[in-house]
Amino acid sequence: MKYSHLNIILLIVIAISSCSKDPSIPNTDVIPLDIPNGFPNPIIPEYNQVTKAKIRLGKALFYEKGLSRDSSTSCASCHFQFAAFADPNTLSTGIDGRLGFRNSQALFNLAWKPDFFRDGGVQSLELVTLNPLHSSSEFDSNSADMIRKLKNSSYYVQLFREAFNDTVSLSNTLFALATFQRTLISGNSPYDRYIFNGNEASLNDAQKRGMNLFFSSRTNCSTCHSGFNFTKEGYFANGLFPAYPDSGRQRITLLETDRNKFSVPSLRNIEYTAPYMHNGEYSSLEEVVDIYNSGGFNVMNKDSLIRPLGLTADEKADLISFLKSLSDEEFISNPNFQPESE
Ligand code: HEC
Ligand code: HEC
Repeated sequence: MKYSHLNIILLIVIAISSCSKDPSIPNTDVIPLDIPNGFPNPIIPEYNQVTKAKIRLGKALFYEKGLSRDSSTSCASCHFQFAAFADPNTLSTGIDGRLGFRNSQALFNLAWKPDFFRDGGVQSLELVTLNPLHSSSEFDSNSADMIRKLKNSSYYVQLFREAFNDTVSLSNTLFALATFQRTLISGNSPYDRYIFNGNEASLNDAQKRGMNLFFSSRTNCSTCHSGFNFTKEGYFANGLFPAYPDSGRQRITLLETDRNKFSVPSLRNIEYTAPYMHNGEYSSLEEVVDIYNSGGFNVMNKDSLIRPLGLTADEKADLISFLKSLSDEEFISNPNFQPESE
């Protein structure tokens, strides 16, 4: 196809204007996420495409203590990069030392998640922030206060302008935070290098034996922890506690058939995200594998796949070695996820 003169002039104008960007004009160039080998296409809403300026603002907000009522707490106070953005504490501390009621979740590969929180109470990553913002045991704040504080900062006024060509607002805050979190992608573990890049040597013999156990009908681990992200994205009762004061999915649906069910967590980076389960009551992978091996407790709705497994000490050790092959060291040290100095 031949370009008309007009089209050529237009192309030159676009090329010149994109070379000399005025920083006060929003950077609306949509950029693709960096998708690891073997991952499907992510879910990115049409109304909130990824741009560099939104990522930058979203990261600043993620580390911003001013989002909380007394400016003491940020998202990063409960989501630490060294722990794959989970929290090494059993329960996290929000403002005034208040404890929440669940163990914090790791944050990675969120661009593929259909719903959020351990009970699936929120269906959009854009809306997740409203929860910590209003929760009395997290930020204990409200949008009016948050916006007022951000508007007082020339740094944020500038970042919002660059990202949205707009002022500080609640929706822009939610969009930027969701965008930054969509860039938290983890898919470079020894397991990935073995499966997707064909690097035989990246798993040792114990890890290979453990992998076979994990994917076997002897353990059934991979029935629930399935797919590229090691979760089938549903709600199940694995029944690893004798009693469930937190009824999980039932709190949202009010159905007795959902009592004791929780979302299946990804097992990527599991070595970094201790303690484990919705209440953070198991502190090591050894404890987790022991309790699965025992078959758990007879609680309502417990899944029939959870039953005594009869694993030997060596098999348990192999299974744990395999779980540790899902660790992505690059992810927990990636400087792109660390705060910029203002
Ligand atoms: C006081 C601690 C605390 C703070 C502050 C906090 N979180 Fe969380 N976060 C948690 C806990 C606990 C959960 C699990 C909650 C549940 O299952 O009900 C969670 C869950 C999440 C999830 C769901 C992950 C998934 O896989 O479903 C996202 C996303 C998230 N937080 C993002 C944020 C963002 C963004 C901020 C800041 C605006 C933030 N969090 C502030 C403790 C915290
Ligand atoms: C019936 C589905 C199911 C099966 C089978 C299953 N799991 Fe799970 N797994 C879950 C659910 C649901 C949770 C979250 C439970 C909670 O939050 O209390 C979980 C949590 C975990 C956790 C803790 C994750 C975290 O971030 O806290 C680990 C580790 C784990 N499973 C490993 C395994 C292994 C190893 C096997 C095989 C021996 C296995 N699972 C079999 C459903 C299952």
